[in-house]
Amino acid sequence: MAVTNLTAGIIGLGRMGAEPSQRLTGRVPAGWLPISHLEAVRDAGFDITAICDANAARTEWVKESYGLSAALRASADELIGERAPDLLAVATRTPERPGILLRAIEKGVRALVAEKPLANNLRETYQVTDAVMAAGTLLGYGAMRRAMDIYRRARTLVAEGAIGELVGINAEFGLSKLLWSLPHAVDLFLFFANTTEVDYVSGHCTWGADESFTSENYFDGDPLVETATVRFANGVIANIVPAGGLNIRLFGTKGSMAILGDGEYIELHTPGRADWYFTEYRRFDNFAQASGTLNLYRQLHGALSGEGSFDVIDADTIRVSQQILFAILQSSAQGGQRIKLAGLNEELVINGRTGANFA
Ligand SMILES: NC(=O)c1ccc[n+]([C@@H]2O[C@H](COP(=O)([O-])OP(=O)(O)OC[C@H]3O[C@@H](n4cnc5c(N)ncnc54)[C@H](O)[C@@H]3O)[C@@H](O)[C@H]2O)c1
Repeated sequence: MAVTNLTAGIIGLGRMGAEPSQRLTGRVPAGWLPISHLEAVRDAGFDITAICDANAARTEWVKESYGLSAALRASADELIGERAPDLLAVATRTPERPGILLRAIEKGVRALVAEKPLANNLRETYQVTDAVMAAGTLLGYGAMRRAMDIYRRARTLVAEGAIGELVGINAEFGLSKLLWSLPHAVDLFLFFANTTEVDYVSGHCTWGADESFTSENYFDGDPLVETATVRFANGVIANIVPAGGLNIRLFGTKGSMAILGDGEYIELHTPGRADWYFTEYRRFDNFAQASGTLNLYRQLHGALSGEGSFDVIDADTIRVSQQILFAILQSSAQGGQRIKLAGLNEELVINGRTGANFA
């Protein structure tokens, strides 16, 4: 029987957690708004029963601005411990995230959504993903493009053979920070390559004067990635390149496709006068009615109420996406050597600091 009145809690009520989407109206493609967890949780039909931010004034402001009846909790422990909600969104910064997620899993929260990146090292990453798998908890993740209609449309086009066999992916996210921006690029690699089997990762990073390896196991900062390559076991080669525009390009044996301007539209290039020139062009406009974040929470609502299933992402994919991120820096530290995910240093911490802020 369908369950109604699913309860939800939100921990971390900053920009991603609860900042109203209006600030971005007209500035981002369809499929982005609502962007905050709180708005999407509410719009997906959950009953928001408890909210929490380390800043009590912010918690009160959020309750008042959204007209919520939710209880205000002073700490994550208090929110989780009292009466765990069905769903919990965790949109704090990264260092506190794994601890909160682990406590929530222990308390029997049925579905979690964690902002990206999942953790500042692989040891904590594995603790969370192992616990999720053991408990059967549903785990959503802040890499939302995979839940947006336009990226899903592009993946369907690839599956239908629109560009032949997929052989390459480029992510053009500018010269970007590993933990702040590139979890999104790496997630899209996994989304389009459609496998979590990785042959090797190679990376070349650079960083600011106030960032460095303070020991073999600790990077103080958030490196900029000049280039990185991920070769998947199915032969797909994915590259992070320092081009701007927030574009994803997909290369196939019989064409190429680009999802441009962060999902503004898709361009499809297929053979023209000769098979080897991809000079025919077709444009697909963005038709999204809901945001990726809302799509994600709607699916979770359906899964928790027994009306559907959740297939946006799974714990294994999140784990591998974290491994790839950490492999990029570890490869860079070894002069860009190709490295396997199996041999990664689980203890390496990347604290994600940019100035005084942490990813
Ligand atoms: N998915 C995306 O597109 C995207 C975009 C930007 C940021 N992010 C990620 O989302 C996370 C949040 O980023 P943001 O820009 O919203 O940060 P933010 O600083 O605006 O918000 C974080 C909030 O968490 C609160 N907080 C910190 N520790 C807490 C704790 N222990 N308990 C309760 N509340 C706590 C802070 O007071 C703050 O209000 C970051 O990890 C960032 O990497 C994701």
